[in-house]
Parts: sequence; structure tokens; C-alpha cells
Amino acid sequence: MQSFKYYAPTHVVFGPETEQQVGKLVKKYGGTKVLVHYGGGSVVRSGLLDRVCKSLEAEGIAYVKLGGVVPNPRVSLVREGIELCRKEGVDFLLAVGGGSVIDSMKAMSVGVPYKGDVWDFYTRKAFDKECLPTSCVLTIPAAGSEMSDGSVITNDEGGLKKDYCIDEFRCKFSILNPVLTYTLPAWQTACGATDMMMHTQERYFSKDDDMDITDNIAEASIRTVMNSVKIVLKEPENYRHRAQLMWAGSLMHNDLTGCGTSGDWATHNLEHELSGMFDVSHGAGLAALWGSWARYVLNENPTRFARFAVNVLGVQNDFNDTIGTALRGIEKMEEFYRSIGMPTNIKELIGKDITDAEIEEMADKCSNYGTSTVGALKVLTREDMVNIYKMAR
Ligand code: NZQ
Ligand code: ZN
Repeated sequence: MQSFKYYAPTHVVFGPETEQQVGKLVKKYGGTKVLVHYGGGSVVRSGLLDRVCKSLEAEGIAYVKLGGVVPNPRVSLVREGIELCRKEGVDFLLAVGGGSVIDSMKAMSVGVPYKGDVWDFYTRKAFDKECLPTSCVLTIPAAGSEMSDGSVITNDEGGLKKDYCIDEFRCKFSILNPVLTYTLPAWQTACGATDMMMHTQERYFSKDDDMDITDNIAEASIRTVMNSVKIVLKEPENYRHRAQLMWAGSLMHNDLTGCGTSGDWATHNLEHELSGMFDVSHGAGLAALWGSWARYVLNENPTRFARFAVNVLGVQNDFNDTIGTALRGIEKMEEFYRSIGMPTNIKELIGKDITDAEIEEMADKCSNYGTSTVGALKVLTREDMVNIYKMAR
């Protein structure tokens, strides 16, 4: 069991119409001039942006708006936002949208006080922690950025997708209204469910498998998401199950499901190269890779994979064949992904055969040209990365 720090300072406000509290919450946390950040238009079409702005106006809080965040958010818009914040004297940031909008906001929050280029943080050239305060109204349960310490940004030049994680990125408040997720397309709903499950799988598949409380929370969370996503795909306006998903997304990435484990994160690192290169949805990229990763690392801790198969996927435990039980679990997980419309290989993900050269390039980027590794259950070298991408092609 690992020693751990659990730090989840975000004030969560959950339930229907909670976005109407935005103005009061910004005031409570000291904002006087807000940048309202949003994506490609879903919050305009739904009327949410208007409601948020009215709530700020009702409290007499000044604001400027910046939309246009795309999935796999780009550093170019972050730079534009930083300039806007400086020009307008913004002292508080509010994201209205999903993980991409929240991550773009977090990048701006650390970029505004910094004298250099914000990309320095994502390439580990700078490590500042001074940030403007951040907050969000979440519209898609998926990335967990509403409570996490991370921000993942893509550089428009070269398609490099990198993260920067500091506690100062954790939102002051996050508003979670499950009704806002009724308009999500089935594809985004499924990608989101896959991503949130994977945030817990990344923590679960660890060598430290002696923290029962964490394991039990993790297994129950994944089962809950698997059940609820199936229901909302048929009934998009099922409040109860939209709510389960929304709260699961936050809990599954606010570190609760990692207390006492060291975590792995190889699938995420491998996926970031896929979405960086092909601009695919992050959750779908994870589904395309996970089975291959799991088969590749299975021998590092077969009993862990067998426990997952039995407790999460309902596989019958064959006590004489731990590896067989574990492999049946991996197959069942892939069956589940397919049942919600997710790809289970790269060809299905990108719609064409990936070339050897593209695989080599992704492995180069993922390993910083052979100078670093990813993963912990099995530490993956550049060669391992190539092998897994090839298994997944
Ligand atoms: O841009 P709009 O028009 O708003 O449309 C979005 C977008 O096209 C749409 N959408 C969101 N809410 C909607 C909606 N459409 C209809 N109704 C609604 N209520 O959904 C699309 C996807 O949105 P996005 O924000 O990209 O999704 P998600 O939350 O999955 O975020 C993905 C990003 O988060 C990063 C991923 O790598 C990816 O870049 N991650 C961030 C993490 C973190 N900060 O801790 C951890 C994750 O592992 C992940 O890497
Ligand atoms: Zn993720």
C-alpha cells in the first residue's frame, strides 16, 4: 500500500438549475472580472451561456467571453485568451463546457501571470504554480477535469499533446447539472463513459493491490458507469442515470480511486499521441488501445486482471487458470466497448490502416525520442510502445 495525499478542494454544486448560482459563487470566491470560456457552440444553442451570463450580471460581475475551444484544445487559443485576460484585467476564469474547455481555461490561468510562453509548462521548461482562480459549469461527464489537477493541451504545430498537472489547477467550484448533458450525442456520451472508467482502471492496474477500500470503490464505480451508460444511450433524458454518470466522472478522476495505489497511466500516454496525431476523441482512443495494452502487460499481475474480470465483468473465476480468467475479462471489456459503439482497434478508430511510420512517430513522441518511459505496472520503453501500437492496429 502506498502512502498518499488526497486533496479535493473543489466546491461541488450538483443538481438541476444549479448554473443559476454561478454569479453568487464567483462573488464568494472573490472574482470581479470574469473570462467566460466555451467551446464550439453547444452552450450557445442550449441557452446555457445566456443563463450563465445573466447570473453574473445579476450579481453585478463584469465579464468577457471567449469561445471556440475545440476537442483536443489548442495552445493557439490559449495564447489568445491569455492576451485577452491581460488586456481586460480578468481576475477569475469560468469554463462553460467539457474537459477541453476546462483544460484550455486552466492553461490560461497559469499563463496569465507567466512572462514566457504558456507551452513551456507542457514541455517541462517551466514549473510555475501561480494561477488565476478557475471554476466551471460542466456539460459532459468524461475528462474529470472539473475536480482534477490536470490540463491537457495540443500544440497546433506538430500535433504534440501534453499535460501539466498542479494542485493550483483544481477548480474553486464546479457546477454539475445532469440535465445539461441530455443534449450529448450518443458518441460523446460513450466516449465520456469510457474515459471516466479508464481513469479508474489506470489507478486500479497497479502493483499495489492491498488497499481493499480503494479497490471496492473502484470496482463499484466502473460497474455503475457500465450500467448507467447503457441506459442513457437508450434514454438520453433519464435524470437518474445521467446523474450517476456525472458524479462518477468527477469521483473517478479526483484521485479517490487511486488512494494507496501507484497507478499506471500508460494507456493514457499512448492515447494522447493518437488524439494528437489524428484528432480523434480521447475516450474512443483509449478503447482502441486498452485491450492490447492489457494483453501486453497481463503477466505483470495476472491475479489483478483476474480479480477485475470477476468483480467488474462478472467472469466465472477459474481458480486453476488465473491467466484464462484474466483474458476472458479483457475480452468482455472489449465486448462492452463495442456494445456502446466504441472502437477496439486503431483501424476502427481512424477509419484507415495506420502506417509503420506513423507508429514510429507516435512512439518517438510518447517516449521523448527514446529518452523516457511510460507506465508503472509494466514500465514501457519505446520498443514496448511500438509493440502495443502494432498489436492495436
Ligand atoms: O464544443 P461544443 O460545441 O461545446 O461541443 C462539445 C465537443 O464537441 C460537445 N459537448 C459538450 N457538452 C455537450 C456537447 N454537445 C452537446 N451537449 C452537451 N451538453 O462534446 C464534444 C467534446 O467535448 P470535450 O470537452 O472535448 O470532451 P471531454 O470532456 O471528453 O474532454 C476531452 C479532453 O480532455 C482531455 C482529453 O485529452 C481531451 O483533450 N483530458 C483531460 C483530463 C484532465 N484535465 O484531467 C484527463 C483526461 O484523461 C483527458 O486526457
Ligand atoms: Zn482520460
